[in-house]
Amino acid sequence: MNLRNLSLTILTAGAAMLVAFSPSVNKTTIATSVKDSIIYGKLPADSGFEKTIKGKQTHLFVVKNKNGMEAAITNYGGHLVSLLVPDHEGKMTDVVLGCGSIDGYVKAGASYYGATIGRYGNRIAKGHFTLDGKDYTMFINNRPNSLHGGKEGFDRKVWDAKKTDNQTLELTYVSKDMEEGYPGTLSVKVVYKLTNNNAVKISYEATTDKITVVNLTNHSYFNLNGESNGTILNHIVQIDADNYTPVDATLIPTGKIEPVKGTPFDFTVTATIGANINDTNEQIKNGKGYDHNFVLNKHGFTTPVATVKGDKTGIVMKVYTEEPGLQFYSGNFMGGANTMKYGEKDKHRTGFAMETQHFPDSPNQPQFPATTLRPGQIYKTQTMYKFEK
Ligand code: GLA
Repeated sequence: MNLRNLSLTILTAGAAMLVAFSPSVNKTTIATSVKDSIIYGKLPADSGFEKTIKGKQTHLFVVKNKNGMEAAITNYGGHLVSLLVPDHEGKMTDVVLGCGSIDGYVKAGASYYGATIGRYGNRIAKGHFTLDGKDYTMFINNRPNSLHGGKEGFDRKVWDAKKTDNQTLELTYVSKDMEEGYPGTLSVKVVYKLTNNNAVKISYEATTDKITVVNLTNHSYFNLNGESNGTILNHIVQIDADNYTPVDATLIPTGKIEPVKGTPFDFTVTATIGANINDTNEQIKNGKGYDHNFVLNKHGFTTPVATVKGDKTGIVMKVYTEEPGLQFYSGNFMGGANTMKYGEKDKHRTGFAMETQHFPDSPNQPQFPATTLRPGQIYKTQTMYKFEK
């Protein structure tokens, strides 16, 4: 019996006790979430995902498709906690990094492991923009800019959650007018669905009662070799983008759209993540590696915008999106400060993110596709991470 199986056995007993002694909560939900949560890692004792935050209850929900693929999602920040995907031998690999408890997510907050990001994914320069002639100010949480929704973005809210079937989890949240400085009451719905062609499809919807800006995304860190299997530097990547948006030293786009050709950003032909990550290129230096928005050649669900292969498992991930941009982040700020769900530290570049989104700082860059949402309009977008062996 290996260490992981052993810990699972011990935790099974602990979880059974928790279920038996939790009279005030819905036993069916808890029984499923706690029992299933055990599969996903060494949880401290048994109650890692059951917590009350500001009067609202958090849980871990599990969805499965017909081929045995499974995802666990918590309604705390809508984090995708784990994603079990089969390799060519049918062996399951958890391809996302995540924490083993809500406390873990609270501590690792600034890394956004698997989080649902809003109201505005990515950076807003100096935490300021003007909309319809009015000035709005956001919290500066990534000096000198505002990142991923500010001090307490959607990744730190407890969402309402409902499993609409075995394969689907629906999360809803109402963000109040001026929450984190953003105008308008925003009603948001995010649906995670595991499809039978082995994809996790994330659908976003939002409406507002005043003009506002919206840019929702998911911040999963993938390691297609699985946690504890080293860095992502030998993963092989292809991105269907002839252009990208260069940034200044604070990672705010300069406003230009530049060709990737002849630079370390050219993933139109496959390359490993590590091949040029330490290049002397100024943009690579600004990002401390890859932390840039790629301008996608096509979007929609007909062709993937990016394809990544794990060099050890052979698992292939294809990204499809309706968004115009893709922030490719190579885990440059990971520094081993947090413990992941199977016990490994989140060491430098052991995960990468592919955040499908509108371009960073769009509210201040009128030449970029607009992120404005007005009353009466519906914000609607979908992204799919599809796995093949
Ligand atoms: C985003 C940002 C990165 C970094 C991570 C979280 O991807 O672009 O610079 O802040 O979030 O660490």
